[in-house]
Formats: sequence, C-alpha cells, structure tokens
Amino acid sequence: MIIAIDGPAGVGKSTVAKLLARRLGYLYLDTGALYRAVAWKALQSRIRPADHAQVATLLLTTSIHMQFHQGAMQVLVDGFDVTGQLRTPEVTAAASIVSAIPAVREWLLPIQRQIGQGGSVVAEGRDIGTKVFPSASFKFFLEADADVRVARRHRELVAAGRGESIEATSHDLSTRDHRDRTRSVDPLVPAMDARFIDTSTLSPDQVVEQMIAAVSTGS
Ligand code: DC
Repeated sequence: MIIAIDGPAGVGKSTVAKLLARRLGYLYLDTGALYRAVAWKALQSRIRPADHAQVATLLLTTSIHMQFHQGAMQVLVDGFDVTGQLRTPEVTAAASIVSAIPAVREWLLPIQRQIGQGGSVVAEGRDIGTKVFPSASFKFFLEADADVRVARRHRELVAAGRGESIEATSHDLSTRDHRDRTRSVDPLVPAMDARFIDTSTLSPDQVVEQMIAAVSTGS
C-alpha cells in the first residue's frame, strides 16, 4: 500500500507525511532527501549543480542508500550518513537545481521504487503520484496560500537558528516553486486522480484526519 503526498514547499507535506506514517505504522519516505543527497555530493565535489553533464558523470561514482531505523530515515552517500547535512540553505538551493536535471531524476527513480516495494509506505515529494508511484493506492496534493507557506517556512528556518528576512524566504520559495513547476521532466503537477487538500487554515492533525478518513472509507 502506497500513499503519495505531493505539493509545493511550505504546505506542510513533511510534517503531515511523518504523522500519517506514524499513525498507520507505515514507512515514511522523504524523496526530497534523495535530491538533497545528490546536491550534497555535487557541492562536496565542487561541481556546479547546474552543470548537467558533470552532475550526470558524478552519478556514475555515487551510491545513495536510505536506511530506516525506528521510523526515522537516514541517507547514506557513498556509505556515509549525511542526514544531518541535507537541510542547509546551500544544499536546499542546489537540490532545487539538480532536481531539474533529467539524468538525476532517472537515476533516483529505481532507488525510490525499490523502497516502495518494501511494504506500506507514505511517500512525499513532487512527482510521487504522477511518476514514481503512479498506481499508488491514495494520492494527495497539498496546497496552501502563498503567504501562509512563506510564513511557515520562515518559522521553520528561525526555529532551526537560520533567521533570514521574510522577503528572502519569500523569494527563495517562489524561485524554487517556479523551477519545480516549469522543469521539462516530471514537473510539479497534481496527478489526475489526486485528492486536493488546502492546508492554509488546517493544523497538521486536521490534515491527517482528513487523509485517514479518505483512506479508511476508500473515498
Ligand atoms: O521537499 P524538499 O524541499 O526536501 O525537496 C528538495 C528539492 O528536491 C526540491 O527543490 C524539489 C526536489 N524534489 C523533486 O523534484 N521531486 C521530488 N519527488 C522531491 C523533491
């Protein structure tokens, strides 16, 4: 059983996906972490994330694995646990850039699908319902008003000790959004059969309740 959750940054995907996975006893698969891992490796190797050819070549000597321990996910790049290094602003910006490279998306596809074969999974990303798991049992597409998304992301950054101006957060979010929605391969679009949830005025628990209601009634 696979539950796909897609949507842009700041709609609460990760929080909700984690909560839902815990409630159902499913594995939580954060596919963005895989794109972040590729970005991390490119930055470590001093390769420009926008250099398609060099990033594609880099993948030939890269291995990425995910490990699951008590519901938490660890990302190993070439055998090293880099989980704690994937949320810096540099990796965030580079991940958005490498995720538009077709070779990167192609390379990460079997890794994601293999994890999906492991059992019941809540998978979160941008192309889960459309590309990675097109036959997922349930597909949700989360949305929220732009100002709510910016405020949420800004709060997360401040909580992580990375205070920046709200204008900078807004600019970063809209740049990433634009790139995600307009890239040539697997752009961020709702699957035809996705259920939409507007999270602007809902708490994470309320969103999860809606999802559980949909899953349990099959509606
Ligand atoms: O969800 P996130 O912020 O951790 O994702 C990091 C980047 O990876 C984001 O800019 C979009 C990209 N991404 C993607 O293209 N497809 C996915 N399934 C997940 C993430």
